[in-house]
Parts: sequence; C-alpha cells; structure tokens
Amino acid sequence: MESESSASTVRDSTVYLTRKFPEPVSRILEPLFEITLNHSDSPVGRDELLSHIERADGLLCTLNDQIDREALDIAQKLKIISTYSVGYDHIDVENATARGIYVTNTPDVLTDATADLTFALMLALSRRIVEGHNLVFNREWDMPWFPSFMLGNDLSKKTLGIVGFGRIGRAVAKRARGFGMKIRYHNSVKVSKAVEVEHDATYSPLETLLMESDFVSIHLPLTDKTRKLISYEMIRLMKQSAYLINTSRGMIVDESGLADALRREEIAGAALDVFITEPLAETSPLLEVNNILLTPHLGSATVGTRYRMGEMAASDIRNVLLGIEPVSLVNSGVRRRPI
Ligand code: GLV
Repeated sequence: MESESSASTVRDSTVYLTRKFPEPVSRILEPLFEITLNHSDSPVGRDELLSHIERADGLLCTLNDQIDREALDIAQKLKIISTYSVGYDHIDVENATARGIYVTNTPDVLTDATADLTFALMLALSRRIVEGHNLVFNREWDMPWFPSFMLGNDLSKKTLGIVGFGRIGRAVAKRARGFGMKIRYHNSVKVSKAVEVEHDATYSPLETLLMESDFVSIHLPLTDKTRKLISYEMIRLMKQSAYLINTSRGMIVDESGLADALRREEIAGAALDVFITEPLAETSPLLEVNNILLTPHLGSATVGTRYRMGEMAASDIRNVLLGIEPVSLVNSGVRRRPI
C-alpha cells in the first residue's frame, strides 16, 4: 500500500457491519465512513447480506456469515473483509486474494479467553462440577459427605495432549504447567526446540498422542486437512479413562462417532464448545449421552476480549480503506496487488 486516500474518497466508502458490535467499532468507523449495519444479533437473510456486499467497500462479519465465491462474485468494490473472529474458514480466502480483497481477523486478543474456557471445561468435566451443581440445585443432595461420593479425576501429573500447538494451544500448555500436567503436542509442523522447552512440551504423532493422553484438547483451524480429523477410529485410540475437549471448530470432530464412543463408554467424557451446526440441532446425537459437557461457543466470550476484538477488526477496516497496512492480515499474497 502506498498512499492515504483523499478525504472525499474516504467519505464515499461504505462499510457494512453484519451484526451489532461493541462500542469501539462505531467509534473507529463512523467518523470516517458511511456505515450500514444489521441492528440485530441475528444474521440477516442471505439475499440481504449479498445486496450489502454488492455495494460495500468494507465488510465486518462474523464466523456465521458465509463469504464464499457467490458473495465475492457479487461484490462490486469490496476492498476488505474483516472477520470478528480468529477463524476464517467461513471466507473463501483464495478467491478474495485473487480479487485483491484484504482479509483480516482477530488473533491474539482472544487467546487467553479461549485457553481459560478450555481449562474451565477440563476442570468442570474431570471434577463433575455441573453434575454437582445440578444435584444441589435440584434438591437431590440427600447424603452427608462420604468417602466415595462423586469422585472425579485429578489434573495433576496427568498427560494433556494438545492437538494444534499455535497461539491457543500454547496458552493452554502454559496453564497446564501450573496444574502440574505433562504436556504432549501434535502440530502439522514440529515447533522449535525453544518453544518446546518454554512449554515443557514433547511432540507426538497424532495416534500416539491420542493413545497416551489423559486429556486431549483440540486447537486446530478448520481446513480441508483437519475436517473430521478426529474420527471415530481416532477417538477409539484414546484411553477409556480419557477426556476429549474441543474449543476450536465443530467440524474437526466426527460428532456422531463421538456420541457412539461416549455411549459405549469407550472414553470417559467430552466437553464441547463448538459444533458442526450452531446452534446445536435438537436431534443431535450429542444430546443423547450423559458423559458430556456442552457450552454454546463461548471461547472468546468475555467483555474485555470482545471489546478488543472490536478495536482490532474495525482498525483493520480503517487501515485498509485509508491505504495503510492492516495489523492482522490473513492473505499476505494480496499485497502483490495494489488496491
Ligand atoms: C471463534 O470461534 C473465533 O474463531 O474467533
């Protein structure tokens, strides 16, 4: 990018916001651009989304907005798609790059919140917290303390297998060390020795990690290679006493295979924050098993994190429309094409 656009060009630029976003978004964008937005928390219909994309210079979207070839075909002057998420599997990035459209996301600012939720799920699952709450709350706690009551499992000295050792996987490892866990990781590329030493983490092939871990936590992006990677056959490699946690993308785990493994008690339990279809369908086989803990895609759901995501996502729209390099560019190949 070479120069800043003139004031009149900036004023003429339209940004479409597909949802209500936190305060920094309007504070950053409204003084500079023409804003159109969906005032609701629900997605607009596909036709309405496309008609806005057709006219927009900038788009701020969420992980539920499919920005595919059809949407890009219709865009007349789109220069940036900024997604209010770290994941960008809902965007046809290759196609956007070919058209010279910048794609940006919100990594880093949500790493701690997602790692915290992963740990909350691990603890809740292994210490039976939801089960215990329900017992007390439903007035079914009818025996005083006794030695074998509601026993769960320790985290300390157990092996945590982290599948996907990027930002969030490493933040989970950092927490796990504090809990005295042993850390194995699997990643498409082995990380450097320095990173392994920093996290006291040992590389394992995926199958070995699944066979030897007491907790397996998934932190992969959704790609053609990771879709359904955690199949029934993979789940069956896990110990019968092991737990599976997924806070990344639902499509990475074969949900009906997982439900079968849980029903047959082939693993001890699972905690899922993400699903193939969100909201989860009433007919999902996951709702037919007991040894499971389900949360509604809460990984980045803290006030502070969502605020920072708003700042980051809006700043990158501003940057690109003003001709400045964005902070969090997904498709660096786009740089070869002047905007
Ligand atoms: C949430 O799932 C995200 O990708 O930010």
